[in-house]
Amino acid sequence: MASPMEGWGLLKQGAEARVYRTKFYTKKTIVKERFSKCYRHPSLDEKLTHRRTTQEVRSMLRCRKAGICTPAVYYVDYTTHCIYMEEIENCVTARDHINELLDGPSDASEQSLQSLAEKIGSTLAVMHNVDCIHGDLTTSNVLIKSGFENIILIDFGLSFISSLTEDKGVDLYVLERAFLSTHPNTEQLFKIVLESYKGKANKAGEIIKKLDEVRLRGRKRTMVG
Ligand SMILES: Nc1ncnc2c1ncn2[C@@H]1O[C@H](COP(=O)(O)OP(=O)(O)OP(=O)(O)O)[C@@H](O)[C@H]1O
Ligand SMILES: [Mg+2]
Repeated sequence: MASPMEGWGLLKQGAEARVYRTKFYTKKTIVKERFSKCYRHPSLDEKLTHRRTTQEVRSMLRCRKAGICTPAVYYVDYTTHCIYMEEIENCVTARDHINELLDGPSDASEQSLQSLAEKIGSTLAVMHNVDCIHGDLTTSNVLIKSGFENIILIDFGLSFISSLTEDKGVDLYVLERAFLSTHPNTEQLFKIVLESYKGKANKAGEIIKKLDEVRLRGRKRTMVG
């Protein structure tokens, strides 16, 4: 039997998921398909794959309700573990966008970087205010659409709901590590992300304190290792 994905354009083959570009009815659509990991016990594998799909959809909807831009979910197939979602057209990842701006420094690119950092910080604050922890914050999981003011958050497969300041602090730490390793020497830029976050997040003081603790733990682990 022909695979239902036949003829779809493969955009990305990841370790856990494949991302395709296709059409759903007449709409340009991205399909994210989570596949089985053969090394896992089949029933555990099924459970994990199902959970990731459910978590991803749930968090996308929760964020949208809070006013954050995430792709609209058109359809979810829990048998094939596929999420059919709106294709964000003319977008680039924040990763590529930041790298491009860093490559050609000018007053305008400086301004754009600052405004993007502020948007990332304030968007994450809104996300945490509704107790959504992303779980995989990187600049590849933030999309920027040309001519569109807001940033778009994607890739919620590791997300969960928690009101704990520790979980929010760890979420920021994951982003900090990813940000500084993907974009070296951007400590000042990341500070703007955190300042903007602090301006909007509930219990920001406690969350940043947790972030400091997690950083310290990370440093100790590096020194021991
Ligand atoms: N709705 C969308 N519209 C446009 N492009 C998208 C969309 N969703 C994903 N992409 C593109 O596909 C890439 C991979 O998507 P995503 O981050 O969701 O998958 P992944 O990183 O492979 O997932 P996982 O980390 O769960 O294995 C994104 O970086 C982005 O370039
Ligand atoms: Mg991703």
